[in-house]
Amino acid sequence: MTENLPFLVPMSSPDLTDAERTRVMEVVNSPVLSMGKQTQNFEKAIADFVGAKHAVAVNSGTAGLHLCVRAAGIEAGDLVITTPFSFVSSTNVLLFEKAIPVFVDVDPLTGNLDVDLLEKAVVDLVQGGEAANKWLPREGAHNHGKLKAILAVDVFGQPADYERIINLVKKYDLKLIEDSCESLGAEYKSVKTGLFGDYGVFAFYPNKQITTGEGGMIVTNDDKAAGLMRALRNQGRAPGDNWLQHTELGYNYRIDELSAALGAVQMTRIEELLDKRQQVADWYAERLAEIQGIETPGVAEGTTRNSWFVYVIKVKPGVDRDKLAAKLTDARIPVRPYFLPIHLQPYMVKQFGYREGDYLVTEDLGKRGLALPFSGVMTEEQVETVCQTLRQCLHS
Ligand SMILES: Cc1ncc(COP(=O)(O)O)c(C=O)c1O
Repeated sequence: MTENLPFLVPMSSPDLTDAERTRVMEVVNSPVLSMGKQTQNFEKAIADFVGAKHAVAVNSGTAGLHLCVRAAGIEAGDLVITTPFSFVSSTNVLLFEKAIPVFVDVDPLTGNLDVDLLEKAVVDLVQGGEAANKWLPREGAHNHGKLKAILAVDVFGQPADYERIINLVKKYDLKLIEDSCESLGAEYKSVKTGLFGDYGVFAFYPNKQITTGEGGMIVTNDDKAAGLMRALRNQGRAPGDNWLQHTELGYNYRIDELSAALGAVQMTRIEELLDKRQQVADWYAERLAEIQGIETPGVAEGTTRNSWFVYVIKVKPGVDRDKLAAKLTDARIPVRPYFLPIHLQPYMVKQFGYREGDYLVTEDLGKRGLALPFSGVMTEEQVETVCQTLRQCLHS
């Protein structure tokens, strides 16, 4: 029986030092635990890093994406094209505003939006009528409005194919929201992710490239949107409102000072953190190249820097991913199927009538993808242990 024994390697780990611990303790010993200079420092660090005019800190990536949806003026019935191969938040934030997510299948190499399909979908949805119908869900979209935006996701830390996406949003006057929650530091054609659209969002859960415990950051060059987002994260208080005046319908999406302090120190180490993750990915790639039955993560031509968030292999057709995952778990190596398609989540099936077979590439990736333990603090020995166990499980 191995169930009660700890895993040999953690699934993920934050990379923290005494610098982070000291700064957080300084905040704990201060009277300002929210809305203070730590938040401002953290915002400045991210704005400088990506070259953004504004960075607005929030308490999760989901909160950040929701504020982008509000700032984009996306409302009930509006159509927004997005991907079914993502973490659910990217779709949920559209549902929060009763917009209708329109899924477009993904590129099998990267798991990012397939831009050929995306172009067809945009043209058809703008045209409307029969042409539009084939992209819409079979239920829940009868009273739909116009196509308003594209919400692209940088899956597993790899940028979507922005050149074509930007051409489309310009040509058809659409908003572009960039879900960069998984891609801090990634570069597409030598430009960092976050600012390809009107707004971009990073997330800082403990398995991310930098962590704040929980937290997120919106980046934008749009002054008006940034002002609105600052109000919305703070219960709708606009500049000039006092604590009990609320110009807008807002939320409590504020980050606290402890989390922001953690993030600000992590940002002083960003290159080190990204390099360490790259090193671990390289160790994996070397060893996995020799293992039959799996594929290593694909990197697109436009990706000039991949910012490794998770390390997801694909089992080759014919290999049972779930059986392999069970064997690895039994051998005390934690693994996770990545992603389970959004359109097949029970609440999506219920609302929109999706079925298996609707997005074939997404479903194929969903059945073959397996995230291996991954973090910047993994040692070469730990990577070796994972790979050896994987080899044994595949061939036993
Ligand atoms: C693609 C994507 N979008 C959004 C989020 C949401 O971030 P958070 O968990 O901070 O709300 C995540 C988080 O894992 C993500 O991977």
